[in-house]
Amino acid sequence: MNKRIRRFVFFSSALLAVTVVDATDMTKAYEMPDASEIVKDDLIPSATKFTLPKTCKLDDLESIARGKYMFHNLNSKNDKKSTLPKGMKVPKKGEVKPYGNCVACHNIEGAIGGGTVGPPLTNYKQNFIDTKVRDAQFVYQKIADPRVDMNETAMTVNLTSKLFDADEICDITAYVLHAKKEK
Ligand code: HEC
Repeated sequence: MNKRIRRFVFFSSALLAVTVVDATDMTKAYEMPDASEIVKDDLIPSATKFTLPKTCKLDDLESIARGKYMFHNLNSKNDKKSTLPKGMKVPKKGEVKPYGNCVACHNIEGAIGGGTVGPPLTNYKQNFIDTKVRDAQFVYQKIADPRVDMNETAMTVNLTSKLFDADEICDITAYVLHAKKEK
């Protein structure tokens, strides 16, 4: 072999050796954190019972207005401070509060593109409250943690998960229970 070919063979085998070593060492090249700790933070506690707070003002028009806003606010699209109903908590800077996304799954009076994953909540007072099929406690519990009376529900958990606080669940309950004039 002349000098040039020998040099070529030397360098290519060296390169091959480095590649092979690199390939076998890849698992040690980065840290593998124990994911179970991270997952634990994401898990929400199991189905939890809640009692409709005595402080819930189900007939209060301001409460109903806040509930309506949260119900229809899909992916926080209406998040402008100026349009928030009175008494509504303003999301902190940079915080994307998911609000209800209720219309993603439920149809209701005035819904734009109400979803069909959940049952329609139209005429709820007339159909379910006045007929005593449901009461305010049921609706509060359903919104707070729907798993209590239905293990395998597709509905979002709102209070146990701390997506909302108890006051906000009161507002949304008040809105669902309210007899609505619009179609
Ligand atoms: C991902 C879809 C989904 C979202 C989002 C959702 N729901 Fe539901 N909801 C369901 C399904 C499915 C049911 C029926 C099963 C059950 O009762 O858990 C249901 C049931 C209900 C019921 C009980 C109806 C009845 O009388 O049986 C109420 C009230 C309700 N949802 C209100 C809400 C409100 C208010 C929101 C927003 C905070 C909301 N839901 C968000 C899917 C959803």
